[in-house]
Amino acid sequence: MNTRKPKGNPEQFTEREVAMHWDENADVWTAHVRQGWDSYREHLNNPAFLKLVGNLKGKKVLDAGCGEGYNTRIFARMGAQMTGIDISVRMIEHARRAEQKEPLGIKYEAASFTDLSIFGNDSFDTVVSTMALMDGPDYEKAIAEIYRVLHKNGDFFFSISHPCFMTEGFGWVNEDNEKKPLLTVSGYFSKKQWIERWQFSQAPEEIRKDVPLFAIPRFPRTLAEYINPLAGAGFMLKKIAEPRPSATDCREHPYLQRWRDAGSLFLHVHCVKP
Ligand SMILES: C[S@@+](CC[C@H](N)C(=O)[O-])C[C@H]1O[C@@H](n2cnc3c(N)ncnc32)[C@H](O)[C@@H]1O
Repeated sequence: MNTRKPKGNPEQFTEREVAMHWDENADVWTAHVRQGWDSYREHLNNPAFLKLVGNLKGKKVLDAGCGEGYNTRIFARMGAQMTGIDISVRMIEHARRAEQKEPLGIKYEAASFTDLSIFGNDSFDTVVSTMALMDGPDYEKAIAEIYRVLHKNGDFFFSISHPCFMTEGFGWVNEDNEKKPLLTVSGYFSKKQWIERWQFSQAPEEIRKDVPLFAIPRFPRTLAEYINPLAGAGFMLKKIAEPRPSATDCREHPYLQRWRDAGSLFLHVHCVKP
C-alpha cells in the first residue's frame, strides 16, 4: 500500500524527516532482516551484488547507508576493514549492539552520506552502498562526498531499486489469474515525493499483522539522474548490472519468476575514481 502526499503539496522531505522515518522503521526492520525475511535480498540482490563487488579482503571500506549492518557484517566477514555510516541513530544502535555481540572490527557512525566530513579526503579503498542512495533527497551531494573520501583508483559499488521499473505507477496486472503477471510502469518522470508503506512479504502473516508497516520516503529519479552525476563528480563507469533470477532460482523461490519475466527489480553500479 502506498500513501502519497496530498495533491498540489510542494513539500519535499528533508534529511531530518528521512532519519525520523528510518528511526521508526529500525526495530522491525532489524528484527525481520535478521530473520532472513528480506527474501529478495537473500535470493536475488545480495548474491548478484557480492559477485559484482568481488574480494574486499584487506581493503578499507565504507558502507554508506549501512542500516543495522547486515551487509556490513557480510563484507567484514570477507576480511574487509569496515566502517558503516547511517543517518538513523536507531539503526546505528542496532548495528553497534550486533558488533558488541559478535566483534568483527566494524566501526559505526551516525552520519549522512551527504556530509562525510568526519572522514578526510582519500580515506577509503572502496565505498559500497546497498539500497540506500535512493532514500535521500540529495543524491548528487552524496556522490560528490563519496568521490572525495575515496582513494585514487578506489572502487564504488552501489545498489538501488531499478529506477526504470520501480516508478510511481509500479504495479502488477494478472496477479490473480492464471496468466503471466505483467509489470506496469508509469510516472517515470514524476518528481512527486511520497511515502511508501510495506512489509517483507515473506515474514509470517501472524507476525506481520502485529507490526506497523515500514514508512519510507521516496525520491523518484530517472536512470539519467542516477548515472549522469557519477560522471559529473569525476567517476568512470565500469559496469551496470540488472540481476535476473536464473530458472533454478525461480524453481527454488517461485516468487522470483516475475522478476525473471517482466523487468528488473534492482540496478547495480560499479564505478572508479580515476
Ligand atoms: C533500505 S535501508 C538499507 C540499509 C542497508 N544498507 C541494508 O542493505 O540493509 C536504507 C538505509 O539508508 C539510510 N539512509 C537514508 N538516507 C541516508 C543518508 N542521507 N545518509 C545515510 N544513510 C541514509 C536509512 O536510514 C536506512 O538505514
